[in-house]
Amino acid sequence: QTVGNDPGRVACAELSSWVNAMWLPAKCAAAGRGVWASRLCVLRRSGSNTAAFMPEAAGFGGVSGRAALQDFSLSDGDSFWAAAARHRLSWSRPFRTVRDCDLSRGRIKWFEDGELNVSVNCLDRHVHTCPERVALIWERDERGSEVRYTYRELLEMTCRVGNLLRRRGVKKGDCVTIYMPTCPLAVASMLACARIGAAHNVVFAGFSAEALAERIRDAQSSTVITVNQGVRGGKVTELKKTVDAAVQSCPTVQQVFVAMRTEKPVTMTARDVAMEEEMLKEDVVCEPAAMSSEDILFLLYTSGSTGKPKGLVHTQAGYLLYAALTHRYVFSYQDGDVFGCVADIGWITGHSYTVYGPLANGATTVLFESTPVYPDPGRYWDMVERLKINQFYGAPTAIRLLLRYGDQWVNKYDRSSLKTLGSVGEPINTEAWEWYHRVVGEGRCPVVDTWWQTETGGICIAPKPSEPDAEIVPGMAMRPFFGIKPVLMDAEGKVLTTNNTSGALCMAQPWPGMARTIHNDHQRFIETYFRPYPGYFFTGDGAYRSKEGYYQITGRLDDVINVSGHRIGTAEIEDVVNQCPAVAESAVIGYSHSIKGEAVYAFVVLKKDVNVPEAELSKELKSIVSEKIAKYASPDLIQFVKRLPKTRSGKIMRRVLRKVVESDLDSLGDLSTLDDPTAVQEIIQGHQELL
Ligand code: WT7
Repeated sequence: QTVGNDPGRVACAELSSWVNAMWLPAKCAAAGRGVWASRLCVLRRSGSNTAAFMPEAAGFGGVSGRAALQDFSLSDGDSFWAAAARHRLSWSRPFRTVRDCDLSRGRIKWFEDGELNVSVNCLDRHVHTCPERVALIWERDERGSEVRYTYRELLEMTCRVGNLLRRRGVKKGDCVTIYMPTCPLAVASMLACARIGAAHNVVFAGFSAEALAERIRDAQSSTVITVNQGVRGGKVTELKKTVDAAVQSCPTVQQVFVAMRTEKPVTMTARDVAMEEEMLKEDVVCEPAAMSSEDILFLLYTSGSTGKPKGLVHTQAGYLLYAALTHRYVFSYQDGDVFGCVADIGWITGHSYTVYGPLANGATTVLFESTPVYPDPGRYWDMVERLKINQFYGAPTAIRLLLRYGDQWVNKYDRSSLKTLGSVGEPINTEAWEWYHRVVGEGRCPVVDTWWQTETGGICIAPKPSEPDAEIVPGMAMRPFFGIKPVLMDAEGKVLTTNNTSGALCMAQPWPGMARTIHNDHQRFIETYFRPYPGYFFTGDGAYRSKEGYYQITGRLDDVINVSGHRIGTAEIEDVVNQCPAVAESAVIGYSHSIKGEAVYAFVVLKKDVNVPEAELSKELKSIVSEKIAKYASPDLIQFVKRLPKTRSGKIMRRVLRKVVESDLDSLGDLSTLDDPTAVQEIIQGHQELL
């Protein structure tokens, strides 16, 4: 196969940008010039599926049009998903059974007897057809220093990492923890795991050593990949030091790969491996493992209402198919578009819409390393102009923040490349929606408010796909995606059949992208998602269905707070607060915040003999939470109280706390079960003093 003309040169350019875009001529000589052009890897193809790209309608057995496709996807899901899977993915062994699912038992399997490799689907097949197409544009923190990687370069980098992992003993079925900022080597590391059949566990690089350690231990990783330092918003973070601290309490960890994001050397121990140096020794060809559809692709930890974070498990084929399909149809992605999802790869949005969805579709995807306001509030739109971004996908919290800085930061830049604007993570309020639509998109780009979760793997409810002139109501997620059947439940657990009604949001049918289990705790998976409404998947969210049948998400029904689109369980924060020696007990709730959507409010009861000034304690508690979990989880407000409102059986009445904080004193509700009614009066008074 012919794949470009000078692989040696490409290898050099690529290696240099791993290390902060510096040129390393001496090392390039060792870079395995010329070997790979003749040995480019593909999985053996067999069966009927040979074409990766065919005209659109063919992908759904000839059915076209949104309504017809939606009907087809629900009435004959097997045929719909089989057609999509054959058309969109390259299989090394074709599947025969489409699905084997039983929601009442939390059993979900798709394409189980088929085999493929996710990295081949995201890389090799595009290298065959368009090796020089840009796969990644790394928008580095330093504005204007973006670096591009072609599909050929990304495949090569992935193969080197894959070989390195293999040489260092990582095997099929192992789980590698990745603690890196959003950068090409992080993407290559994810894909390298997929290539050799290891699962990855990406931990957001804003998490503390303790939160990281907890996730490494639960995932039982023996290998961690990190960088010396991170750079975000002009600030340096010591990621390697955080890993050092974390692995002290992780007996499973045998090796830590350290890549260089900055030039600052870090102390290396016997356990540490200089990643780029070792990559240079590796071949640029790496045999992909043939994976069964239901082998694990990755774990991703997220918060629940109780206990420790849960490692949701996503598998190979179903996840990739769903990410690819939603990426194409929700954002009206077309071949050649530049897709700009600004989420960090540490969240599911980064997994599905920065990495897997776009790469499976052969898109050019942007890796955004910075913040919306660095070095100034024009950063996003400057980037849109410079990189000619066609689809921009961001979070309401950032939109609300930028809106306050005024239109001039937007208008300064040419946004004519934009075609679709996406929103994710939390409800988008009407003001932010209108501004996004009118100012950012000049009124000509549809705004797609996309509802989904770590658990769903990809977008489930969004205004698109739809007929070109179909209505989009501001702030509404609108319509289910193909194969998605939302239902609303009333308090008794009955399906609400009418419109203009609200209830608990559930899904009545399985879809290929949904999580398969919680790592090491299938029982919890069943209890959380399938027990509350037997036969249905319960999302944890409430929703409203309008007269027209459109969906609007109203927020979490459980004790999970959504701070700037990031989930955190109240129990996790309470756990950390309660560890402070001065604290007797605490109750944490979320309250509405103009920028963050929700912010954390902690009620704290101190032990009897504590004499430290409250202001000091408040500061300390905030920093403890940042240190032990992450900055975003830190309480904005802490109110010290003598006692918490409890029922006679000892349960904290959070409902009452919420009403006090919302200043909705008229609807405190039934207080008759309250153990000591004076507690509420004290809390109301204390709250007013705090404000
Ligand atoms: C929770 C999932 C899915 C990517 C980011 C968050 C809330 C998410 C929306 C939206 C209203 C939304 C829900 C959901 N959420 N998107 N468009 N409108 N709420 O993933 O961390 O798993 O959080 O985020 O409450 O349950 P996650």
